[in-house]
Amino acid sequence: MRLPRLLCAFLLAACCRRAAGVLGEAEPPEPELVEVEVGSTALLQCGPSRSQDNLSNVDWFSVHKEKPTLIFRVRHGLGQSEPGEYQHRLSLQDAGSTLALTHVTPHDERVFLCQGKRPPSQEHRLQLRVYKAPEEPSIQANALGISVNSREPEEVATCVGRNGYPVPQVIWYKDGRPLKEQKNRVHIQSSQTAESSGLYTLRSVLKAQLRKEDRDARFYCELSYRLPSGSHMKESREVTVPVFYPAERVWLEVAPAGPLKEGDRVEIRCLADGNPPPHFSLSKQDPRTRETVEETTDDDGVLVLAPARREHSGRYQCQGLDLESTASLLSAQQELRVDYVSDVRVRPAAPEGHEGSNLTLTCEAESSRALEFQWLREKTGQVLTRGPVLELQDLDREAGGGYRCVASAPRVPGLNATWLVNVAVFGPPWMAQKERKVRVRENALLNLTCEASGHPRPAISWSVGGRASEHDQDPQRVLSLLSVRVTPQLVETGAECVAANALGRNSTRILLELASNTSTGLSTATVGPHAGANGTSTEKKLREPQSKGVVIVAVTVSLLVLALLGAVLCFFYKKGKLPCGRSGKQEITLPPSHKSTFVVEVKSDKLPEEMGLLQGSRADQRAPGDQGERYIDLRH
Ligand SMILES: *[C@@H]1O[C@H](CO)[C@@H](O)[C@H](O)[C@H]1NC(C)=O
Ligand SMILES: *[C@@H]1O[C@H](CO)[C@@H](O)[C@H](O)[C@H]1NC(C)=O
Ligand SMILES: *[C@@H]1O[C@H](CO)[C@@H](O)[C@H](O)[C@H]1NC(C)=O
Ligand SMILES: *[C@@H]1O[C@H](CO)[C@@H](O)[C@H](O)[C@H]1NC(C)=O
Ligand SMILES: *[C@@H]1O[C@H](CO)[C@@H](O)[C@H](O)[C@H]1NC(C)=O
Ligand SMILES: *[C@@H]1O[C@H](CO)[C@@H](O)[C@H](O)[C@H]1NC(C)=O
Ligand SMILES: *[C@@H]1O[C@H](CO)[C@@H](O)[C@H](O)[C@H]1NC(C)=O
Repeated sequence: MRLPRLLCAFLLAACCRRAAGVLGEAEPPEPELVEVEVGSTALLQCGPSRSQDNLSNVDWFSVHKEKPTLIFRVRHGLGQSEPGEYQHRLSLQDAGSTLALTHVTPHDERVFLCQGKRPPSQEHRLQLRVYKAPEEPSIQANALGISVNSREPEEVATCVGRNGYPVPQVIWYKDGRPLKEQKNRVHIQSSQTAESSGLYTLRSVLKAQLRKEDRDARFYCELSYRLPSGSHMKESREVTVPVFYPAERVWLEVAPAGPLKEGDRVEIRCLADGNPPPHFSLSKQDPRTRETVEETTDDDGVLVLAPARREHSGRYQCQGLDLESTASLLSAQQELRVDYVSDVRVRPAAPEGHEGSNLTLTCEAESSRALEFQWLREKTGQVLTRGPVLELQDLDREAGGGYRCVASAPRVPGLNATWLVNVAVFGPPWMAQKERKVRVRENALLNLTCEASGHPRPAISWSVGGRASEHDQDPQRVLSLLSVRVTPQLVETGAECVAANALGRNSTRILLELASNTSTGLSTATVGPHAGANGTSTEKKLREPQSKGVVIVAVTVSLLVLALLGAVLCFFYKKGKLPCGRSGKQEITLPPSHKSTFVVEVKSDKLPEEMGLLQGSRADQRAPGDQGERYIDLRH
C-alpha cells in the first residue's frame, strides 16, 4: 500500500520536471521588469542600452491577453502614435531609443514589446509593474462591545486601506503583538474592491473571542505594501473595545474613609467588578427588628447621608443581580458607625456665689465614644482645667462671667460639643467708667453711655431726662444709652448715671464741656471769603465780623487800661514809691484776667492775623522789634 504511492510520487515529480524543462526551452525569455508609481512616467527601453541594434525604425506593441496591439512606430528616428488608448501619452526620448509613457495608471500594468524593423531584429519584451501606496488606514472599533460569554469570535474592529496598488497586506496587532488566525478564537477576513481608477480598497475585519483581561487591550492594523523604492507599511491608530464580563464580587464603599461623625456628608456606594455593573439594591438592617429596609439611592446608585445622624448607624447590605451571568446574586455587608457628642450640660445650670466662697462646676455629655472634657474661660479662651469638674475657689468679682465646657471624643477627629455657662458673683453695682468729661456743642444731640455690672443685675437710671435704652452685655452687665439735647442747663449740671441692685448702688458722673472755638475763630474769619456759598458758611461770615469787632474792642480797651496803668505806675515811680526797671514785668501785680489779655498781646507774633489787626487798627503804633520794647513804649 505504501510502496505504490511513493513510487507514484517519484514518477510524477520526474515527469513534471521534464515537462517544465521542455516548456522552458520553448518560452520566450523573461520580460525586462519596469517598476513605476501610479501617476509618474514609465521609461521603456527597447533592449539593453549598450545594444548595437539600429533603433531608427521600431514598432512598439502593448500585449493584452497575449494579443499584441501596435501602439507606436519609429521611422527614420521619428516617432508616431497609433490611434487608441496610448495615443496621447507616448513620446520618444534619448534619440529614439526610449519610449516614455506618462500618467501611468494601474491599467498600464502589462507587457510592452518592441521590434526593430529595418533591419528586423528580435523582439524585446518589457513587463510594466505599477505601484501605489494605500492611504492611511482607518480603523473602526466595535462600539457595542463584546461579551466574554460569546461562543464565537465577534467583530473587534474593521480596518480600511483605500486606493492602493497592488492590494496591500494587512496585519492585526493586539498590544503590539501580531495576531494570527486561530480556530474559533481569531478570524481575520479581508476583501478588496477595485475602484474604477484600477486602485484597490482593502477592507479587513478582525473577529475574536475576548476575555476579561482584554478590556484594556489596544488593537490596531498595519498595511504593508511595496513601491519601486522597496517595502513600506502604515499603521492605524489604536482602539479599545468594550468587554462585558460578569461580576465576581460586590462590595460597599463609604466616603469619607475613617471615623464618621454627626453632621458629616457620607456617601455609601455599591461596587462590583463586572461590566456593566450589576443592578444593585442597598438596604439597611433595622437594629431593633433585625429586618432589612431598602434604601433609596440616587441615580448613580449612591446613598447620600447629609448630614449623617446617629440613627444612620447600622449594618448596610448591598445586593447585585448580574444579568450577564446566568443567575448570580452577589451581596456584601458593611457596618456603619456615626459617632456623636450631644447634650452637653453643666451642673449647676445657673452657678452663682458670694465673694470669697467656692464654686464647683460639673460638665456632662452624651456620646457614642469615650469623652474628654476641658474648661475654658470664655473671655480669653484660656484653658483652665482638663476634666469634667471645674473648681472655682475664693470667688471674687473678676471670677464672674462666661466659662465654656468642651466635650470631645479624641478617637474621632473634630467630634466635639460645647456648653457656655455664666458664673454670677453676688455684689453691688460696679461702674465700668469713672467720672469723665465730654466735649459737646450747644444744641447738639448727644449720646451718653453708662455701663454697670453686678449680681443681681443692676438697674440704671439717669439724673437727667432723655431717651434711655438698656442693652444687656451679659447676665450681670448692663449698658444704658441716653440720648439728650445739649442745653446750657445740662452743660451746667452734667449727667449722673446711677446703678442699683439689692446689694447697693453706685454712680458715675459725666461732665459736659462746651467745645469753644474762640482762639481759632479769627483765623477762620480770614479764610472765610474763600469758602463756598453754602448756607452754613454764609452764616459764619455774617457772625465772624461781629466777633472780630468784639475782639478788637477788647484789645483796644485792654491797651487803654494798660496805658492808663502805665501812666499811674510811672507817676508813682517818679514819686519814688515804686521800683521800676526794664525787666519789671513780674513785679506788676495785675488781676488774672488782665494778665491773660496782656499775655495774649505779648505773644501775638505767633498769631499773624491778630498782629495784622493790631497794626491795622493802630497804624500809628507800628513798632518794629520785640514786644518788650512796645511795652516800654507804652510805659512812656
Ligand atoms: C541605421 O540605419 C539608418 C538607415 O536605415 C542609417 O541611416 C543609420 O546610419 C544607421 N545607424 C547606425 C548606428 O547604424
Ligand atoms: C474653699 O476651698 C479651699 C480649698 O479647698 C478651702 O481651704 C476653703 O476653706 C474653702 N472656702 C469655703 C468658703 O468653703
Ligand atoms: C471641635 O470641632 C471642630 C470642628 O467640628 C474643630 O475645628 C475643633 O478643632 C474641635 N475642637 C476640639 C477641641 O477638638
Ligand atoms: C463703684 O464702682 C467703682 C468702679 O467703677 C468701684 O471702684 C467702686 O468701689 C464702686 N463703689 C461701690 C460702693 O461699690
Ligand atoms: C445716638 O444713638 C442712636 C441710637 O443708638 C443713634 O441712632 C445715633 O446715631 C447716635 N447719635 C450719635 C450722635 O452718636
Ligand atoms: C470748633 O473746634 C472744633 C475742634 O477744635 C472743630 O471740630 C469744630 O468744627 C469747630 N466748630 C466751628 C463752628 O468752627
Ligand atoms: C456745601 O454744600 C454741599 C452740598 O450742598 C456739601 O457737600 C458741602 O459739604 C458743603 N460745604 C460746607 C463747607 O458746608
